[in-house]
Amino acid sequence: MKALNFINGKWQPALSGQWAPVVNPANGEAIGEAALSAAADVDAAVQAAKAAQKKWALVPAPKRADVLYKVGLLLKERKEQLARLLTMEMGKVIEEARGEVQEGIDMAFYMAGEGRRLFGDTTPSELKDKFAMSVRVPVGVVGIITPWNFPIAIATWKSFPAIVAGNAVVWKPALETPFMARELAAIFAEAGLPDGVFNVVHGDGPMAGSALVEHPDVPVISFTGSNDVGRQIAEKCGRLLKKVSLEMGGKNAVIVMDDADLTLAVDGIVWSAFGTSGQRCTACSRVIVHERVKQELERRLLEAVKTLKIGDGLDETVKVGPVIHEEALKKIDRYVHIGREEGAKLLVGGHILREGDYARGFYYAPTIFTDVTPDMRIAREEIFGPVVSIISVRSLDEAIAVNNGVDYGLSSAIFTRDVNNVFRAMRDLDTGIVYVNAGTTGAEIHLPFGGTKGTGNGHRDSGVAALDVFTEWRSIYVDFSGKLQRAQIDTGD
Ligand code: UN1
Repeated sequence: MKALNFINGKWQPALSGQWAPVVNPANGEAIGEAALSAAADVDAAVQAAKAAQKKWALVPAPKRADVLYKVGLLLKERKEQLARLLTMEMGKVIEEARGEVQEGIDMAFYMAGEGRRLFGDTTPSELKDKFAMSVRVPVGVVGIITPWNFPIAIATWKSFPAIVAGNAVVWKPALETPFMARELAAIFAEAGLPDGVFNVVHGDGPMAGSALVEHPDVPVISFTGSNDVGRQIAEKCGRLLKKVSLEMGGKNAVIVMDDADLTLAVDGIVWSAFGTSGQRCTACSRVIVHERVKQELERRLLEAVKTLKIGDGLDETVKVGPVIHEEALKKIDRYVHIGREEGAKLLVGGHILREGDYARGFYYAPTIFTDVTPDMRIAREEIFGPVVSIISVRSLDEAIAVNNGVDYGLSSAIFTRDVNNVFRAMRDLDTGIVYVNAGTTGAEIHLPFGGTKGTGNGHRDSGVAALDVFTEWRSIYVDFSGKLQRAQIDTGD
């Protein structure tokens, strides 16, 4: 399989003719290659997008939305086929891959509806015979850079609102997962999107990503990925006065109070800590437990973890798939060593799986540390793997303080039956997403997705909020008095 660039409606290799291998993380086998693009490829895509956007912006928004609706139908029709390919290139278990494609389907239909809204405000003018309103206008060419952990969903969160609002897109997907990008581009073409409105350029961050960020004809960058890269992008965009939306790391916690339903809490923790092998920015990587139920929770967690089947995600009975590559395995393992050195107690896991079939892929044993203190590195830094740290507290106040005491603020969760605890948590947990009696993952596409502090820079994906990234506000005043009326002066005061 080859993943070519998609520029102006045409499939083409990188101008350099270079390719990067794509590997199935479940067994280490090469499944194809992706174009390894550079600045000239990015420039070709941006020029195509720039020309196409001018016409696209003049298509009525409900008509633009019709294309998205068709994209939704095609995604739905191909859900199973896409999910299988997703599992092969990224490794997540097939059930989760289906869920991810569903997220794209949901986004298509939701944003198609937005084509008949795209609401602005009308508001009274302070002057007689004058009309005041605001409308959303597209920004132009939107640059999108996405990670490998949600190779299709995150692209839909960004490209669908951008396109319905009248922008054109140049998307650089992660080099590890180019095939979801190929499929989405093919679906856009089939749905009748005009050439040049949606372009894909494969490549790595230093070459293709930087060229997109620095391109003078790309006024907006929407990025999801690591904090290191996000910071570099923000610095570049700052210098160039570009709008930049960043969605980065998390250190998400589940709080378990002493009145919690522990069976439910264990289900929520296991699902959100070990689902996608912990490689979600929303993954639970801390459990903050009331000391009165700590022992019992640990006992039940251990029992639950032992039943998790680890393996190739295409096997329907597997619950935990591989991590993305060898480098990720090593990073996770380094953190486990750090945790041990810091004095945390390993309850289960803590090692790379190398025996038998595991040897060919990239598997890490689901890992739980306990007796972790909030100042330890494993309790503060994003590990992005199946590793969770248990921290014990004596009260809700302390739990909230521990939750809020990290540099990230994406998602948090509380298990409790006490309504007072619930409302205090809803008010005081300093994260962009808060769950009550559910784990830290599972965001739905019609609400804003994003976080506070080091997780982002104040923007949101998903929901109506996503439109704010891809549109400018234009405030319009129509004076129909036939004479000069001066604002703030001729108001009769
Ligand atoms: C991510 O990890 O970057 O809420 C996205 C969730 C998913 C999206 C995760 N709906 O976990």
